[in-house]
Amino acid sequence: MFDEYFLLSGVLNIGDWIPWIDFLDLQGYVKRMKALCKKSDRFYDHVLDEHRFNREAEKDFAAKDMVDLLLQLADDPNLEVKLNNDGVKGLIQDLITGGSDGTPTAIEWAMSELLKQPNLFKNATEELDRVTSRERWVKEKDFPQLPYLDAILKETMRLHPVAVMLARHLALEDCNVAGYDLRKGTRVFINTWGIGRDPMLLNAPEKFQPERFLGKEIRVKGQNFELLPFGSGRRMCSGYSLVLKMMRSSLANMLYGFNWKLPDGMKMEDLSMEETYGLATPRKFPLVALSEPRLPVHLYHLQNQPPMNRLGRFVTRLPSRLSEGSDP
Ligand code: HEM
Repeated sequence: MFDEYFLLSGVLNIGDWIPWIDFLDLQGYVKRMKALCKKSDRFYDHVLDEHRFNREAEKDFAAKDMVDLLLQLADDPNLEVKLNNDGVKGLIQDLITGGSDGTPTAIEWAMSELLKQPNLFKNATEELDRVTSRERWVKEKDFPQLPYLDAILKETMRLHPVAVMLARHLALEDCNVAGYDLRKGTRVFINTWGIGRDPMLLNAPEKFQPERFLGKEIRVKGQNFELLPFGSGRRMCSGYSLVLKMMRSSLANMLYGFNWKLPDGMKMEDLSMEETYGLATPRKFPLVALSEPRLPVHLYHLQNQPPMNRLGRFVTRLPSRLSEGSDP
């Protein structure tokens, strides 16, 4: 269902551009959207019923997950904006779709660019070794000391923004933005891909050069319009602070813990950088790369190993509550 959702969210529907033929649904996308909507609705109804059932069955019920929390909010009579059943379903869908595709897509692009310029690995790993002294893995508290890693991620988001057109916005009333008149009902697309490659704003925009962000106060919080991977303003990505943590920790530890190279016989120039357009913009061909450990061997053993069961498998216990992380 999500594959279909990602595809349909990214397609170019002719009826959106030539409204008077919209009703013909020439490409059949609207029909597919309606079918998907019905199918997802059945799925969400099932999930909500299951959660409601558990809530009623348990004495002293405490919310355990996102759906429990949303249902609790829906019951709150004091909410300024009332959350109804459709709102709960919409939020679940937003969070699952937003949370699943973007981060791995961005990491895959970062690794692809680095594999094309192996000298950049050296800069990144020197910084990571300095901060950890090669005695432990990279942690969240290290992020402020990792400007080069940050620059790699920013350069990745500039050259390969996951949401190339952000999300469509609609003018609810006639308005004027920066001297441009927008009539009510106008659909606005922000082409971050184009902004990120504009030669008026950047030197050599086609080149992947993390150094261009070093020592610059350019952030991804929506204030610097030359870099808007998460949008800007009230509708900007609500998951961005989680995303930054996920991207920094995974890329940092992938670079720190392993040496990476292309499969034997493959040259840097053979690595295709073609994209596929959808809700996210992943590589057209998945990246294949080889890794080997680069740290002292004891670091690869799990620290604080959970106990093993009789089959020799680790028994993992989920923490009773999430740790409280700091906002970057
Ligand atoms: C690399 C990963 C991600 C990127 C690049 C990204 C980017 C975006 C963009 C461009 C928007 C639209 C902003 C606009 O309207 O201009 C958006 C909206 C949103 N994102 Fe993300 N996102 C990512 C991951 C996530 C994650 C992990 C979550 C949640 C766990 C999330 C939750 C949302 C939600 C709920 C919205 C809708 C906000 C609204 O319309 O009010 N995103 N995201």
